[in-house]
Amino acid sequence: MEKVRIKEPEGKLGVLVIGVGGAVATTFIAGTMIARKGLGIPVGSITQLATIRLGKREENRFPKIKDVVPLANLNDIVFGGWDIFEDNAYEAARHAEVLSIEDLGKVKDELQAIQPMKAVFDQNFVKRLHGTWVKEAPTKWDLKEAVRKDIQNFKTENKLDRIVCIWCGSTEVFTKISEVHQTLPALQQAMKENNPEIAPSMVYAYACLEEGVPYINGAPNLTVDMPAMWDFSAQTQTPICGKDFKTGQTMLKTVLSPMLKTRMLGLNGWFSTNILGNRDGEVLDDPGSFKTKEESKLSVIDNILQPSLYPQLYGNVYHKVRINYYPPRKDNKEGWDNIDIFGWLGYPMQLKVDFLCRDSILAAPLCLDLVLFNDLAKRAGLSGIQSWLSFYFKSPMHDNEHIAEHDLFIQYIKLKNTLRQIIGEDVIDFID
Ligand SMILES: NC(=O)c1ccc[n+]([C@@H]2O[C@H](COP(=O)([O-])OP(=O)(O)OC[C@H]3O[C@@H](n4cnc5c(N)ncnc54)[C@H](O)[C@@H]3O)[C@@H](O)[C@H]2O)c1
Repeated sequence: MEKVRIKEPEGKLGVLVIGVGGAVATTFIAGTMIARKGLGIPVGSITQLATIRLGKREENRFPKIKDVVPLANLNDIVFGGWDIFEDNAYEAARHAEVLSIEDLGKVKDELQAIQPMKAVFDQNFVKRLHGTWVKEAPTKWDLKEAVRKDIQNFKTENKLDRIVCIWCGSTEVFTKISEVHQTLPALQQAMKENNPEIAPSMVYAYACLEEGVPYINGAPNLTVDMPAMWDFSAQTQTPICGKDFKTGQTMLKTVLSPMLKTRMLGLNGWFSTNILGNRDGEVLDDPGSFKTKEESKLSVIDNILQPSLYPQLYGNVYHKVRINYYPPRKDNKEGWDNIDIFGWLGYPMQLKVDFLCRDSILAAPLCLDLVLFNDLAKRAGLSGIQSWLSFYFKSPMHDNEHIAEHDLFIQYIKLKNTLRQIIGEDVIDFID
């Protein structure tokens, strides 16, 4: 297998986080700082902990991914970002109440040094938040120019070699793909005309692509999931990926559904409900933002179970997803699944899953992996949609010629095989 030519990860890697004062962002940033000081283990991170089998099983070669794939070192990462509130990352992390004061104290100075840049914000896209630290400019095109300046200044001031950008901001209201999203000239014109179908996330993403900065979409927002942005990412040779981190309930769905299908067990209904009390829960309490999340969460089961191939088993599945804002739980989400299945001769059975999880604790390692893998992708000359990173997303992006793959373990094989290809090793078609 021929090795892909990859630029070495020399110099510093800037990580720009949109929504840098949020629960996921601050947990990701503080956790990475704690891990690189050797004061905590980055549990959940494939780049930091997982091994990869190379060659045949009997060769017994199981190196750590980070020892054979040229990823940036955590010590070379410099964080920055934007938020609609002015709090520095330490104050914001205290507000989010995910990590303990003791843990935050280990990296307090570094966190305090992260002062958000003014955000691109439009109340129409996140109804429940009232931003006070927001850029002003006559058009969305001008706002995009302002974001480009922020990126350029961040690079110069911190003497960075490369930058990756990740959206950890709020879920925007549901935006249907329309004509303005189809072609690059239409998108540019729409930005210049302040078209209401251009969301703030699109303004950031456009600026990133123009600067050659990979863009990761951690929310279900439309953002780069449109032909105009696919074209632009190819033109600027920039990786893009999304949408919506796959962390809790949907991760379980993409493990349990293949199990049912593999055993040819039937499914009548899947009722998923959540209680969540953080700011994300508050934003998702708005029907417009919930609709975006709902679309993302609902797509999974049908794709895996293929009802058109198995109408007797999956032709009539009732699938419902609810998210309830319940402040006392803060970031500690509880996700319940009631799954009505049937077996031999149609006899009914039930599965109940109660996942008492921590939203941001599950999302933080995904942020770290996605940042490091997108930096790798850029150095390896990959651009456009990074479907090999579908493993990390609830609604993996794909162009009009492909369909998404949702099965977690197929996604994992794809991820590892892409890494094998990048480093010139043979691909392996079963899981190690
Ligand atoms: N397990 C998970 O936590 C998980 C899983 C999948 C997706 N997500 C998504 O990740 C995102 C972040 O989740 P969270 O729990 O950290 O939410 P959060 O509300 O704590 O953080 C979001 C941050 O984004 C900021 N923001 C909103 N609009 C902005 C804009 N236009 N520009 C800059 N900043 C902006 C907010 O002020 C806030 O600080 C949400 O969209 C959520 O749906 C989270």
